[in-house]
Amino acid sequence: MPMLWFLNLVIFFIMLWQFPVSHCQQPYVNNEQLDCYNNSTVTHGFACNGVSSTCPSYLTFRSSPPDYDTAASIASLLSADPSLIAQINNISIVEKIPMDTVVIVPVNCSCSSHYYQHNSSYVLKTESDNYYILANLTLQGLTTCQSLIDQNPYDSRELSAGMRLVVPLWCACPTANQTARGAKYLISYLTDWDDYIESIAEMFGVDPQMVFDANQLTEDSVIYPFTPILVPLENELSKIQIAPSPPPPPSPEPPPTTTGVTKSSKKWVFVGVGIGAGLLLPALSGFVAYFFHRRSKKGKSVSDSENRFSESAGYKSIPENKPCSVSSAGIQYAIGSFTVYEFEELQNATGFFSEANRIKGSVYRGSFKGDDAAIKMMRGDVSSELNILKQINHSNVIRLSGLCLHEGNTYLVYEYAENGSLSDWLHLKKYQSSFCLGWKQRVQIANDVADALNYLHNYTNPPYIHKDLKSSNILLDGNLRGKVANFGLARTVENQEKGGLQLTAHVVGTQGYMAPEYIENGMITPKLDVFAFGVVILELLSGREAASSDSNKKNGKEELLSASISQVFGGENVREKLRGFVDPSMRDEYPLDLAYSMAQLANNCVAYDPNSRPTMSEVSMTLSKILSSSMD
Ligand SMILES: *[C@@H]1O[C@H](CO)[C@@H](O)[C@H](O)[C@H]1NC(C)=O
Ligand SMILES: *[C@@H]1O[C@H](CO)[C@@H](O)[C@H](O)[C@H]1NC(C)=O
Ligand SMILES: *[C@@H]1O[C@H](CO)[C@@H](O)[C@H](O)[C@H]1NC(C)=O
Ligand SMILES: *[C@@H]1O[C@H](CO)[C@@H](O)[C@H](O)[C@H]1NC(C)=O
Ligand SMILES: *[C@@H]1O[C@H](CO)[C@@H](O)[C@H](O)[C@H]1NC(C)=O
Ligand SMILES: *[C@@H]1O[C@H](CO)[C@@H](O)[C@H](O)[C@H]1NC(C)=O
Ligand SMILES: *[C@@H]1O[C@H](CO)[C@@H](O)[C@H](O)[C@H]1NC(C)=O
Repeated sequence: MPMLWFLNLVIFFIMLWQFPVSHCQQPYVNNEQLDCYNNSTVTHGFACNGVSSTCPSYLTFRSSPPDYDTAASIASLLSADPSLIAQINNISIVEKIPMDTVVIVPVNCSCSSHYYQHNSSYVLKTESDNYYILANLTLQGLTTCQSLIDQNPYDSRELSAGMRLVVPLWCACPTANQTARGAKYLISYLTDWDDYIESIAEMFGVDPQMVFDANQLTEDSVIYPFTPILVPLENELSKIQIAPSPPPPPSPEPPPTTTGVTKSSKKWVFVGVGIGAGLLLPALSGFVAYFFHRRSKKGKSVSDSENRFSESAGYKSIPENKPCSVSSAGIQYAIGSFTVYEFEELQNATGFFSEANRIKGSVYRGSFKGDDAAIKMMRGDVSSELNILKQINHSNVIRLSGLCLHEGNTYLVYEYAENGSLSDWLHLKKYQSSFCLGWKQRVQIANDVADALNYLHNYTNPPYIHKDLKSSNILLDGNLRGKVANFGLARTVENQEKGGLQLTAHVVGTQGYMAPEYIENGMITPKLDVFAFGVVILELLSGREAASSDSNKKNGKEELLSASISQVFGGENVREKLRGFVDPSMRDEYPLDLAYSMAQLANNCVAYDPNSRPTMSEVSMTLSKILSSSMD
C-alpha cells in the first residue's frame, strides 16, 4: 500500500512536470479543486480566452434522486431552461430520470470579469451545507469551492441555512484555435469513475485529440472523477437518447474506440483513480480539520455528517448518500417550463397585494411589464395541479405561466381573464343591469367549454377529469371567450376496461353540479364533467343559479337547476315552458329552435344514469352545430 502511494505520487509529479503551461486552451483542474483553501490558479474557473465573450454551451449533470432527477428540478438547480433540457434529452419535463443518467443541460455561457461561467444561485438548506459540499456533492463538480469562495461575500465560517449563494457553473466558449478546427460549442462534461478521454470523445462523436487539447491533457494524463472536462463540439447537440450509464464492469475490458491508444489510457485512468484517492487524504484532512473548527465554534452537537467525515481515513468512507438532501416536497418536479418569479416581483406586480388588486379570495391581479396576470396564493401541495396544467395546452383552458415559492406558500401566476367569471356575468346583479350576454355569446362560451372538456377527456395523455366544473370556474377573456380554470380537484381517468373504476369516499364538489352517482357512490368517470357541463348550459340558458334556495319554496329546500329542466320537458307545451325558462334578460332575442336544441342537450347531459349521458365529444359536436346555426 505505501508502495502504491509512493508510485502514485511519483507519477503525479512526473505528470505535473510534463504539463506544458499553455494559455491557449483551458487547463484541467487536476483534482486541485479538492483543497478549498489552497489557491491554485486552475481552480477558479475557465479563463475568458475564447473568441466570443458569450456563447451557447452545454453542461452535464447526473440525475440524482430524489432532489434532482427531472428536467424541471435540474433546471431549477442550474438556472437552465427545463423545456430545452427535456427536448435535448428526449424526455418530458417531469419524467423521472434514472439515477446517474447523464443529462445534457444547454446554457448560455458568458465571461464575468476573468472567467467564463453560467450563473445560478443556491439557497443553503442545512447548517452542514458548505462551499465544498455544494461544489462537489450537490453540483457534482460543475463548480469548485474556490470559485464559490471567490464570488460570494460570505466567509466559509459564516455560512448558514437560508443564505443565497451565487453559483458560477463552469462553462467555456471556443478559442480561436478550436474555432479554426471546427468546434462551435464546448460541453462541460463531468467525469465519472469509469471515464477516460477516449470514451468521453466517443460519447460525443469527436476526435479525442480535440478533447486532449481542449483540456491541455496528453494521452498520458490522468483524469479524476467529478471534474469538468471540456469537449469541443462541431454541431449543436440535438435530440439524444439518454441511457443510464452502465455500472462499472467487474473486469474492465477496453471499450471499442476509434484510436489505438485505448489500452494505455485505460491503464492511466485506473492509476488516476488511485492518485485521486491518494491525494484526497491530505486534502480531506485539511477539510475535516476545518470542518470541525467551524463546528466547534458554533457549539453544535456532532451530527451524522460529521461522524461520516471524522472517519474519512480514505475514499471509501465518504458517504454515498448526499448529506444535504432536503426534499422540496414534489414541487421541484412540477416547475417545468413555467417562469419562476421572485416574491419581490409579485409584490411589485400586485402593489404589495393591495386590496385594490384583489380579484377574489386569495386571487390578485398583477401587472408584469404591462401584461396582466392573475396571481393565486395556495397553501399545501399544489404539484398535482401544476403537473396537469403543464401538460395542457388549449386556448380554452386558463394558461399557467409561472409560479413563486415563498415561505411555504405557492403563488401561481395565470393568464389574466379580463372579464372575470361566467357566474358573475350570469348571476351578479351589477352585471345584469348594465351588460348581458347575448345568445351568440352564450353559445360560443358553451362551445369553448365543451372544446376544453373534450380535449381533457380525449386528447391529453393521460386523459383528465376536471371534477369541479362550474360557472365560477369558467373565466371570460377580453373577447368573452370561455376558458376553464381551477384544476385543483382534477384527476386522471382510469382505464375502466382494466377494472380501474374509480370510487372515492371523499366526495367534494359544489352543490348543484355534482352528478348523482358521485354523491351517492363516489363514482368518478368523465360523465361527472358531462353532468356539470349540462348544468352550466342550463345556467347559460336560464341565467339561474345551479342551486338556489328559493324562499317561496316549501321547507326551504334548495332547488337544483338540473332537476328543473325535466319539468320543462315533461308533459305538454314544452316550447311555452321553455320560453319561461330562458333568461328574461335576453328578452326575445334568441332563436327558440336553437334554444330548444340546447335545452335538450343539457337535459341529456344531466340524465340520472351516467350511461345515458352523451360523451363530451358528442356534446362538442352538437354544440358546434348549434353554434354555426346561431351565427347564420
Ligand atoms: C497548494 O498546492 C500546491 C500544489 O498544487 C502544493 O505544492 C502546496 O503545498 C499547497 N499548499 C498548501 C498550503 O496546502
Ligand atoms: C487567492 O488568490 C486570489 C487571487 O488569485 C486572492 O485574491 C486571494 O486573496 C487568495 N486567497 C488566499 C486565501 O490566499
Ligand atoms: C441564450 O440566450 C438567448 C437570448 O437571450 C435565448 O434565446 C436562449 O434561449 C438562451 N439559451 C439557453 C440555453 O438558455
Ligand atoms: C464528491 O462528489 C461525488 C459525487 O458527485 C462523490 O461520489 C464523492 O464521494 C465526493 N467526494 C468527496 C471527497 O466528498
Ligand atoms: C454572474 O455573477 C457574477 C457575480 O458572481 C457577476 O459579476 C456577473 O455579472 C454575472 N453574470 C451574468 C451573465 O449575469
Ligand atoms: C491548435 O493548437 C494545437 C495544440 O494545442 C496545435 O497543434 C494546432 O496546430 C493548433 N491549430 C491551429 C489551427 O491553430
Ligand atoms: C425519443 O424517445 C422515444 C420514446 O420515449 C423514442 O421512441 C424515440 O426514438 C426517441 N428519439 C430519439 C431521437 O432518440
